Amino acid sequence: MTDADLIAAARTAALKAYAPYSNFSVGCAVESVDGEVVTGANMENACYRLGLCAEVSALTLAQATFGLDKVARIAVAGGDASGTALAGTNAVTPCGGCRQSILEAAQLSGVDIDILCASGDGQTVKHYKISALIPHGFGPASLKDAG
Ligand code: THU
Repeated sequence: MTDADLIAAARTAALKAYAPYSNFSVGCAVESVDGEVVTGANMENACYRLGLCAEVSALTLAQATFGLDKVARIAVAGGDASGTALAGTNAVTPCGGCRQSILEAAQLSGVDIDILCASGDGQTVKHYKISALIPHGFGPASLKDAG
């Protein structure tokens, strides 16, 4: 899948978000090393702190579909989903908690996962590796000295 295709999948997924409190819809597309793609969107809750981010939603499906250890690339897009297509001009980067979840997948596979951070309209895209978004992170590899 091209970068543009993966971003398009994330933008489409955002249209299925349940985000009545923030009105900020986020979609995420996760691609496996074999080119399989799953998507997810954020799901909020009246008890605000219980909301789920799009990345965790998509990674949960990725684990069920091909395994976290097979994640190669991720696209995220967020903005206003009140129209027919996702809108917004600011590139969305994963929140701190989502970076930690992506790091988990990265350390399982040993792949420095590529993350495409797109604006709602898909026109602004920033590319990062997970190692740049969460340097010196604590992950499964950090537990090797556990008793
Ligand atoms: N959100 C995500 O889904 N992913 C992120 O990485 C950042 C934030 C969601 C959470 C909440 O539903 C809304 O965006 C506003 O914070």
